[in-house]
Amino acid sequence: MARPKIALIGAGNIGGTLAHLAAVKELGDVVLFDIADGLPQGKALDIAESGPSEGFDAAMSGTSDYADIAGADVCIVTAGVARKPGMSRDDLLGINLKVMKSVGEGIAKHAPNAFVICITNPLDAMVWALREFSGLPHNMVCGMAGVLDSARFRHFLAEEFDVSMRDVTAFVLGGHGDTMVPSVRYSTVAGIPLPDLIEMGWTTQEKMDAIVQRTRDGGAEIVGLLKTGSAFYAPATSAIEMAEAFLKDQKRVLPCAAYVDGALGLNGMYVGVPTVIGAGGVERVVNIKLNKEEQAMFDTSVAAVQGLVDACIGIDGSLA
Ligand code: APR
Repeated sequence: MARPKIALIGAGNIGGTLAHLAAVKELGDVVLFDIADGLPQGKALDIAESGPSEGFDAAMSGTSDYADIAGADVCIVTAGVARKPGMSRDDLLGINLKVMKSVGEGIAKHAPNAFVICITNPLDAMVWALREFSGLPHNMVCGMAGVLDSARFRHFLAEEFDVSMRDVTAFVLGGHGDTMVPSVRYSTVAGIPLPDLIEMGWTTQEKMDAIVQRTRDGGAEIVGLLKTGSAFYAPATSAIEMAEAFLKDQKRVLPCAAYVDGALGLNGMYVGVPTVIGAGGVERVVNIKLNKEEQAMFDTSVAAVQGLVDACIGIDGSLA
């Protein structure tokens, strides 16, 4: 059987890391696409030349021609601009909306059967716009945010409890922005919910509140340290986890920016929710029950996402 084809739209920091991870994990043949002259070709060749030492079988190529993504099984989109210190994800809206239009049209023409994972920020609005511009089925277009946000949450919790992060589960709901909702109640260490661990004296409410806030600010913390761009290792790893769930029909339960129509009281919008990802793309949205406090935070986050979607419609009337 031929190897799956993975198209990476955007060959910058995240795109290059995605290509390297996809190759090392032998997920398929990789096509890196970018408008920057030589960048996708250079990165593809560099990664291909790591193959003999690493020992992977995966073809790597770079292109600036959408025709070369033809028939891709997975498209991961990072095209656009990233944040600099002092910028919010929302500041990127106008520029990246135009990028989503060209990417959406390119995917629709050359890879209409692909599972599409968007990473470009502001995430929830960009994945919505990408779906609109591409016209692909909603279940085949989603955004990577929740896996990353919950990985950050898990990392901080594992450090706080001095336990393996493998035994920490966490999930984060809502938009990928300042209003995201890290769920303390649904996060656990080996099945023990965090509120119980506070009662057991493993940590304090104050420390938990600080970890929740650090998770919300996780992207900005990295931007502040790097100064020249935003996070790329963890975002790439998170998207690869989602791509692998699709390619291997793993039915992973992963939080992602998915189209929610009916669940959680929403009528047709993209926002971060727990989902099941398998060969059918986003096969299910897990319709969890929120308590009053969580619902209020989720509503605020949903309103922030809706505000960005409205701003997109204001910029590009064809989205109305
Ligand atoms: N088509 C294809 N590629 C494009 C386009 C376009 N229209 N416009 C820009 N690009 C490319 C750039 O040439 C660059 O190589 O997108 C790439 C983006 O790479 P980086 O600037 O290194 O950004 P990165 O860190 O990879 O983040 C990409 O993901 O997490 C988000 O906020 C982040 O929106 C940003 C995106």
